[in-house]
Parts: sequence; C-alpha cells; structure tokens
Amino acid sequence: MDRFLIQGGSRLHGDVVISGAKNSALPLLCASLLTAQPLTLRNLPPLHDVRTMLKLLAGTGVRVSEDPTDEAATLQANAVDRLEAPYEMVKTMRASILVLGPMLARFGEARVSLPGGCAIGQRPVDQHIRGLQAMGAEIHLEHGDIVAKASRLRGATIATDMVTVTGTENLLMAATLAEGTTTLLNAACEPEVVDLARCLRAMGAQIEGEGTDRIVVHGVEALGGAEHPIMADRIEAGTFLAAVLATRGDVFLRRACAEDMGATVQKLAQAGLEMEIARDGIRARAQQRPQPVSLRTAPYPAFATDMQAQLMAVNAIADGVSTVSETIFENRFMHVQELRRMGASIDIDGHTAVVKGVERLTGARVMATDLRASAGLVIAAMTADGETEIDRIYHLDRGYDRMEDKLRALGAQVRRVTSGATQ
Ligand code: UD1
Repeated sequence: MDRFLIQGGSRLHGDVVISGAKNSALPLLCASLLTAQPLTLRNLPPLHDVRTMLKLLAGTGVRVSEDPTDEAATLQANAVDRLEAPYEMVKTMRASILVLGPMLARFGEARVSLPGGCAIGQRPVDQHIRGLQAMGAEIHLEHGDIVAKASRLRGATIATDMVTVTGTENLLMAATLAEGTTTLLNAACEPEVVDLARCLRAMGAQIEGEGTDRIVVHGVEALGGAEHPIMADRIEAGTFLAAVLATRGDVFLRRACAEDMGATVQKLAQAGLEMEIARDGIRARAQQRPQPVSLRTAPYPAFATDMQAQLMAVNAIADGVSTVSETIFENRFMHVQELRRMGASIDIDGHTAVVKGVERLTGARVMATDLRASAGLVIAAMTADGETEIDRIYHLDRGYDRMEDKLRALGAQVRRVTSGATQ
C-alpha cells in the first residue's frame, strides 16, 4: 500500500494544469452504452476510477480504444453481450450504478450489484430504482443484485426525495431513449450533470433545463455517436486553490473554471485567497494566514461536500474559530481525528465541527480514510512543521490525477513510498 511522505513548509508556486473531471467522466463513459455508434471522450483523466469504469464497460462487450497521449478514449457499444455490473466492480466503485439507466433504456435489461455502505455513509440508491420503476421498469433484488427489466421505458414525471447527482444522471440517460417525455423534478444542478446533458445532446438527445432543478427530456428512438471534451475537474481545482491559500502560495491553475465552482470560490476568497479569473484559468495567491470561514455543505451551487475536508484543513490553521456543517453524508468527518493527530483543535457536535485555528500543525503519521479526506490531509501536511506520513493513499489515486507530481512541480516536498520499498 502506498504512502505519502510530506515535508511541510513549502509555498506552492508556478503553473498547474487541471485535469478532466472524474465525476463527469464516469457518467459520460456510461453514456456510450446508449448508442451503437462510437463515442469519443477527450480530456479523460487517467484515474483509478476511470480505469475501473473502462474495465466494467469492456466486460459488458463495449469496445474501448484509448489514446493515452491525447488523454482520449473511444467507446463503441455495438456488440454488448453481458448486461451486468458485477459485485467486484461495484464494491470498489459505487458509481458503477450509472450503467443501470443506459443498459435498461437501450437493451431492456440490466443486472447491477447493489452498492453496500461505504466509508462516508450509507449512500442508498433507492431514488435511482424508484425513478426507473416510475418509467415502467420491473425491478427486484436477487442475490444482492438489482435485476431490472423493461420492454421499453416510458416517459414519466419523477420528483426525487432529495437532490441526488448520480440519481439525476442515471434517470437523465435512461430518459433519452424512453418513449415520450420525462420530467425530472428536484434534479441535481451540478456542472457535471450539465456536461453530461451536453454530450447526450451531441448524440441526438432532446433535453431542456439542465443546470436547473427541472430537466425535461423528450425520448428519441436511437442516439448516435459524438465527440465530447470533458469539463475540468472543479474539485481538483478547488483542492489546489485551498492548498495555495494554506501554503500562502502563488499559482496559475490552467483550465480551472471559476464559474463551475459555486460557493467554493466565494468561501476561499472570504478566507483570504486572492483570485484573478482569466479566460483559460485562475491565478491564485495568498500572503497571510487564512481567515476562518464557516460553511455548510449542500447541493450545487452551495458549498460542495467534496470540498469540505480541504476547507477543514484550511480552517485548522486559520486565525480564529469556524464551524463546518456536513448535511449531505452522515459520516464525513473521519479526517477530523487525523487532523487532531497533527495538532488541530476540532470538536464535533453532531453534523457540525467547531474548528479553532492553531498557528502551526505538526507532522504526524496519519491515515487517509476516503478520497477527499486524503486531500485535506495532504493540504494540512504541506503547512505542518516537520514530516507527515499519510498512509492508504490509494483513496487519493481514485480521484486525483498524479497529485504528487503536480504538487512537486509547484515546489511541495511530497514523496510516494511503495510498501516494501526502502525510503
Ligand atoms: C455524487 C458524487 C460525489 C459527491 C456527491 C454529493 C459522483 C460519481 N459522485 O455522489 O463525489 O460527494 O455526489 O455531491 O458524481 N441518496 C439517497 N438515495 C439515493 C441517492 C442518494 O438516499 O438513491 C442520498 C445519499 O445517501 C446522500 C445524498 O442523497 O446523502 C446525496 O447523494 P448523491 O448526490 O446521490 O451522491 P452520489 O451521486 O453518490
């Protein structure tokens, strides 16, 4: 298992290129199942989760040809013969559920292992299932698998009980090939949903209202191929911005798009990050100790739960007290214990953490518990006195493209140590 060794104290400076968005890439890869024609995705980030999704799709019979030099892949689902997402895939990546809607819509059946609990909470998929049932699918559970059938899905009006990102994406993809009109109410407004809708439209889908909480889809008989550039990863960009603030650095984030970042940019500005928004990216710098910023996670455009751990790390060294409330996932404070090991002063009261900023953190041995928690620990470590060892870095590899290389190029002292290797 790989670890990071990080020597704190370096200020980040230079240029970094933000990669394609993981949370956009995963549904877009699944959209290939909706057509027999080739779908080419550009700006595809070379991440562990993307690998897993490509493997899952290849296992169903989708032909995948990759062009790594160009960070692109072409997928063609003209010989799909296994309408399945097996347990081994779903257990490592919950987003595997995103094949359910497209498979059912185009082939009339699907078998997807039911995702279990995960580190950051229960994360059920009941809304995906109920939405597809409202479109006429027959769904039952068999040996832990969701087994779904429908001769042809029918348009329906579906209001989900809560805003769900992958739920919206699954139903949106299913609706493109349904008979008649589907209206999704309480739909997720996340930029990744908009990116998916754009690609589906390029494939011939008829969609209105993406980016709002009401999406209307007029089903068509068939979709065609397309070529689509994946949007830049707003969470990777936000993570680098938080790191610039925490280390008082000066960095240009190429391809970062402030418009997609919702409340993250405002919160970082309140905390003291100076930002100049350019056409091709964001220049960010900070000179002072961060100011504390209180925040509450909520669906887009409010503050993203995927940025909570990183801002917690910034607040841990801020000049004052802040509160951080998590409203999306019930168990997403696991980084708090690890930050405490580094000297952070954080108390948890239910869904709220009260953070009393300290002047310096100190290096320690800590453990990454999930993808974004790992990013929070990396930020904390870069500000700390001495060396921090972060274990279980595989979480980070699921969603960050070559993070240590990018940080090292900006002047951070980060080393990856592979188990068994001498340091
Ligand atoms: C997506 C993102 C993830 C992000 C999250 C919230 C991807 C691949 N992942 O996850 O990075 O942290 O959005 O912004 O895009 N819920 C139910 N029933 C359902 C669906 C969701 O109860 O059927 C609940 C969840 O438990 C959670 C909330 O709704 O409390 C929001 O979850 P959701 O938006 O679905 O998260 P994901 O799509 O899994």
